[in-house]
Amino acid sequence: MNYYAMKDVIIGNEFIELDTIDSTNDYAKKLIRESAVREGTVIMADFQTKGKGQKGGYWESEKGKNLTLSIVLYPSFLEVQKEFYLSMSVSIGIAEFLSQLSLNSKIKWPNDIYINNRKAGGILIENAVKNNIIASSVIGIGININQTEFKSDATNPTSVSLELEKTVAIKDSLSILIKYLDKWINLLYDERYTKIRARYRKYLFLRNKKAFFTDKKEKFRGRIIDVEESGLLLVKTDKKEVRKYNFKEVRFPF
Ligand code: BTN
Repeated sequence: MNYYAMKDVIIGNEFIELDTIDSTNDYAKKLIRESAVREGTVIMADFQTKGKGQKGGYWESEKGKNLTLSIVLYPSFLEVQKEFYLSMSVSIGIAEFLSQLSLNSKIKWPNDIYINNRKAGGILIENAVKNNIIASSVIGIGININQTEFKSDATNPTSVSLELEKTVAIKDSLSILIKYLDKWINLLYDERYTKIRARYRKYLFLRNKKAFFTDKKEKFRGRIIDVEESGLLLVKTDKKEVRKYNFKEVRFPF
């Protein structure tokens, strides 16, 4: 008999639906601090008054038009050196969700979701680390579904409805999204690291495409060749030098 020691998590075993909240990520972190939330719980809001983006930015989302949610995980098998696998798994899940809606998407490193060179979604993961392992993780996901006008200075926003030229039922899109997130988070819990990296590479925006990059020294031409397990971006210059970047150390198109 085959014996597989597999860890299981069910995404969406519990749902907390909120009308208005400051940020679903902050709400999730509060519940974790109070030991009041089970692994896999999805916390969603119709509207966030202080939706948080990366780099301390604001996440714009019109009331009731989009998916703004956070998922609570306790991935205690995951060492902090492997935390980027959370980003990879979740962004792949979103890309597969969009593909189910007949949209081709790409993952702009590290974890922005792009459709036709425009940003349709973003991820903000907030981890608590204890003894070198991820004790808890709040996976914050914002995906623009039916919003068609964007007021903030967010770069190049788009939405599912702008791309499909029709509106989409939020509840239907939520259940498809949860299905694919469940699939890829469970592959992570099964420690299918090679499969996850390979699929992330497949979706990686501008991979092997010539483009201009700007780092703190200069603007140069090159191409993205890979992303390391740690999350570092590898760019090969036209002069065949490989440069490694941490988050926010390099800019490139769109
Ligand atoms: C980004 O800047 O790309 C990340 C955006 C993440 C937004 C989501 S919306 C639900 C969750 N709650 C937050 O306050 N932020 C994340």
